[in-house]
Amino acid sequence: MSGALLSARNLSVRFGGLLAVNDVSFEVAQGEVFTLIGPNGAGKTTVFNLISRIYQPTSGSITYAGPRGEVTLTGQPAHTVAQLGIARTFQNIELFEHASVLANLLIGRHTRRETGLWRDLLFTPRTRAAELKAREKVEEVIDFLDLQHYRDTLVGGLPYGVRKVVELGRALCAEPRLLLLDEPSSGLNVEETDDMAFWIQDIAGDLGITVLMVEHDMSLVSRVSDRVLAMNQGEVLALGSPAEVQADPGVAEAYLGTIDDVSSLRRPPGHKVRGRA
Ligand SMILES: Nc1ncnc2c1ncn2[C@@H]1O[C@H](COP(=O)(O)OP(=O)(O)OP(=O)(O)O)[C@@H](O)[C@H]1O
Ligand SMILES: [Mg+2]
Repeated sequence: MSGALLSARNLSVRFGGLLAVNDVSFEVAQGEVFTLIGPNGAGKTTVFNLISRIYQPTSGSITYAGPRGEVTLTGQPAHTVAQLGIARTFQNIELFEHASVLANLLIGRHTRRETGLWRDLLFTPRTRAAELKAREKVEEVIDFLDLQHYRDTLVGGLPYGVRKVVELGRALCAEPRLLLLDEPSSGLNVEETDDMAFWIQDIAGDLGITVLMVEHDMSLVSRVSDRVLAMNQGEVLALGSPAEVQADPGVAEAYLGTIDDVSSLRRPPGHKVRGRA
């Protein structure tokens, strides 16, 4: 770990009368797995949407150590987020259902393309090199996530658990420096969650990608997170190691009466078991 990759300072966002995020500050260090937890409606996804420039904060700012030095993310247009090396998955999977796994991964790769229209039309050597590199990267991700078996299958026909992995793959194909995962284990069965834990550890440990994650499954959180930030009703409740945050009385109180709801909501039955090859 060295230095902050992302710093959120006094972030607030208001939707009408609702302060969805209220004066939230935190820093994500280079190389760590940093997890946001909190009951439903705490503001976790809203923080992700502020980082990915879907929402503009009402006040506060986010800085990011980009490939060409520090930038104020909150001052950048939304389309630059991918080029700065930030990729994400969504709480409700966002993929092209009528396209194959391979096509979805190639689309993920294209979000970071830097070639221009004329170069593309003329198919210059640079375009061709970029295209080859894209194919290589996609194959690498297919191997990494054991998706060989599904490469030509239409996403719409895949079991939920596999779609979730494809979405992770789509984000990885962009070769991010910062990967945002919004509830990577939601809807997954125990074995699939176990695979997800391994992948998150490998993504951070082997690929060196910094991971900022939102997650409800506390055993997954404890297993993979370096640090945890607990939120409730838009505000920061606690920040520390997984054990410290879980032991925080304010966190326990925020979850009181919601634990059962959360665990049953997050595990719809009947998803296919898929082991790690
Ligand atoms: N675009 C929006 N317009 C109005 N209200 C919004 C908008 N986006 C989020 N909210 C509200 O902000 C609050 C925080 O929502 P958010 O989606 O960030 O919660 P969350 O912590 O991700 O919850 P969950 O665990 O259920 O996903 C909620 O009350 C939500 O209804
Ligand atoms: Mg959410």
